[in-house]
Amino acid sequence: MLSQEKNNLLTQVGPGTPMGDYLRRYWHPVAGVSEFDQKSVRPIRLFGEDLVLFKDLSGTFGLVQRRCPHRNADLAFGFVEQCGLRCAYHGWEFDASGQCTHQPYEEIVDVDARLRQKTKITAYEVRAKAGMIWAYMGPAPAPELPDWEPFNYTNGFAQVVMAEVPCNWFQCQENSIDPIHFEWTHNNWTERQQDSQSEHVPTHLRTLYEEFDYGFIYKRLRAHENEENPMWTTGRVTLWPNGFYLGHHFEWRVPIDDENTLSLLWVFNKVPKEQEPYVQQHIPSWYGPVRDENGEWITSHVANQDFAAWVGQGAITDRTKETLGASDRGIVMLRRRFFEELEAVAEGKTPKGLITDSAANHNVYLPSACRDEMLNGMTREALAAHPLLGAYLRDFIGQYGQPEEVREAYEAAIGQKVNRARFFSVHGARQKDERETETS
Ligand code: FES
Ligand SMILES: [Fe+2]
Repeated sequence: MLSQEKNNLLTQVGPGTPMGDYLRRYWHPVAGVSEFDQKSVRPIRLFGEDLVLFKDLSGTFGLVQRRCPHRNADLAFGFVEQCGLRCAYHGWEFDASGQCTHQPYEEIVDVDARLRQKTKITAYEVRAKAGMIWAYMGPAPAPELPDWEPFNYTNGFAQVVMAEVPCNWFQCQENSIDPIHFEWTHNNWTERQQDSQSEHVPTHLRTLYEEFDYGFIYKRLRAHENEENPMWTTGRVTLWPNGFYLGHHFEWRVPIDDENTLSLLWVFNKVPKEQEPYVQQHIPSWYGPVRDENGEWITSHVANQDFAAWVGQGAITDRTKETLGASDRGIVMLRRRFFEELEAVAEGKTPKGLITDSAANHNVYLPSACRDEMLNGMTREALAAHPLLGAYLRDFIGQYGQPEEVREAYEAAIGQKVNRARFFSVHGARQKDERETETS
């Protein structure tokens, strides 16, 4: 339980708020590069600011304020030029640094372009990496954009999967240090949606939480596992400040504003060894819906089950009303660390986990329960039998709504069809594998 004041500290992300300013010290993935295959400009809201993301004709990405400074036209209606974005109302043009580079009529009247030279709009640094567009909205200089080791994995198919989730970012991130929910949200709930009489899956017996440079590691031991299980020996990474790393995918929860969050997954599926060498030419990105055509919440897929849980906690969950127990030790550690960080940064200290040395920013290691498999690959048979990774040969279980063309590209990469059935009608060994895999 927290005071209202402390809950506000964790949840308010607009400009000038302690948490908003803190999170702006980090790079955040905000869109898919492939979104700009077909379009050049789109509006985007981040940390309570309305912005426009564009890719100009030279291929440079830019992120600038949404309103034109001339007479407030919407730059989302703008069009791109060789180097920048031009307002569709009177043609003022801005480059990716926000500098006005052309004011057509003004420069006829004043050849010295004095008004243009002093016109500069808010602009943030953006970069493309691993099929994602990343934004840095903090003070200069920007830290390194982390080169996490999985971004350099080979012989695999990556995809960027997004959704807009109508609730505050922090309750989404608390889920990154909440092992117990797997058993209920992803295992037992999945079972009960198919069979109201299904038995509960093996329960958790122990959990352990450790802090390290780039966040926390949680470990868990379940009733059907022993201490050799990689979930106990290696565990999973609560990636600081708003990520989750599970070995075969990342998740980030990026604040849109106080009551909306961009969920972005980067999922990497190794192709079977029989398909090697495989070089992915194009990383697709897509948005999935959170509700079905009847307005009901979609709860069939792993991320969708999480979304329902998070949104169900309230737009900004009320932490003055909660009953924390032993299952929430990680969550208490996470909150405490954030409070300490906010204080430390207010005193001028460097935020946790930033990479500032470019020489150190290469293939940055994160603990992973399936690192050997991701580095070395597996035969089709071994992959199919793998408790964590095998399910992806049968379906994209990560999130509902994968477009047909992404599925086809994935099938071509792995050299087989997937069956598209999220809920298996047969019980038994395969179902058990599924339960193991539903560990978002
Ligand atoms: S409002 Fe944008 S150029 Fe006039
Ligand atoms: Fe989950």
